[in-house]
Amino acid sequence: MSVLEGKHILLGVTGSIAAYKAADIASKLTQAGAEVDVVLTEHARRFITEVTFRAITRRPVLTDLFDEPEERQIAHIHLAKRADVLLIAPATANVLAKLAVGIADDLLTTLALATQAKMVIAPAMNTAMWQHPATQHNVKVLEGRGATFVYPAEGMLACGDVGAGKLADTSTILATVEAVLNPPLRGVRLLVTAGPTEEPIDAVRHISNPSSGKMGYAIAEEAARQGARVTLVTGPTLLEPPAGVRVIRVRTAQEMLNACLQVYDEVDVVIATAAVSDYRPAEVWQGKRKKGEEEWTIRLVPNPDILHTLGERKGKHVLVGFAAETQELLHNAQAKLREKNLDMIVANDVSQEGSGFRSDTNRVTFLWADGRQESLPLMTKREVAHRLLDAVRELVLPSG
Ligand code: C5P
Repeated sequence: MSVLEGKHILLGVTGSIAAYKAADIASKLTQAGAEVDVVLTEHARRFITEVTFRAITRRPVLTDLFDEPEERQIAHIHLAKRADVLLIAPATANVLAKLAVGIADDLLTTLALATQAKMVIAPAMNTAMWQHPATQHNVKVLEGRGATFVYPAEGMLACGDVGAGKLADTSTILATVEAVLNPPLRGVRLLVTAGPTEEPIDAVRHISNPSSGKMGYAIAEEAARQGARVTLVTGPTLLEPPAGVRVIRVRTAQEMLNACLQVYDEVDVVIATAAVSDYRPAEVWQGKRKKGEEEWTIRLVPNPDILHTLGERKGKHVLVGFAAETQELLHNAQAKLREKNLDMIVANDVSQEGSGFRSDTNRVTFLWADGRQESLPLMTKREVAHRLLDAVRELVLPSG
């Protein structure tokens, strides 16, 4: 039985040329057993009419704040209360802006304010409009408030431009609605380590590396979205912590180890993306060391290997590591998988363009303890997070 069976979905359709695709979405939702109430904005009605949706959903279609199909109920409050999900597909740049600031000047935006239902938003627009800082800001604001986005795909747009802005596939949109109704990682407790560590040399200097923390933050964010309870232990980064995630900030490898050990018994899964400094200065100079003519030798001692330490007390934990390599990628990753007692490792050739530190994309290979391997094409860190969490779900909930 589909998770959509018997669910109330409010489908908001706005004035994009992709509005006609909402008919397919309404149809698939109805076929899966959902009760679909369609709300069209004024601009959407220029592209598609109520008649289509009424025939598909066999329910009244609402377009006006003052429509009252059932006399004894205030339609927008009633609809807002009973909805399990408010799905807006396609969503224009205009509606994103209105939602971000809470404007309620028509039925759909009023419903969006009145409802406590989960919101799923599938934007469709011209590439320049999608990439505009105003739109991207609005997306962030809405995500911060808990909305789930089905990001637009790349392709040939109606205006003839090629780029991001095409409404995502119906199947992707439906899968997202299903995931929101039944979060795939619900009940899973996850610890993610992220970012670099800093090992102080004196009061103003330290040893570190260029890790941005993007990969770990993307995993933490996506896992929280999928219903996991996420603790993010992070070294210093410039990133905003993801919504709904418990954040523990640390500076050194030793502090990161202590934080991980403190929460280890309370988690089921650890994903270690942190680029931990392998060495730290043996002594930390008191105050700032003055500049001088003479040489300065700093003696370095090894730091604890956090993941290795956790692997020694593995118990029932699922442990996932990352291996950033510049040579013999798979061979070295495999060795780390064994040595650290991991279930899975993500091998990442950091010498390749578009991969590794600071980049928004990554080209990775998954290796499992049972010998399986899967090489993924170049993709965004967000997509890598998605694929990795699919794999983690199989490790944690083998039957689910
Ligand atoms: O041995 P290597 O540093 O390449 O291993 C990388 C993996 O081990 C990553 O998952 C990293 O987060 C973790 N690690 C760790 N503590 C260290 C070094 C690496 O947790 N001191």
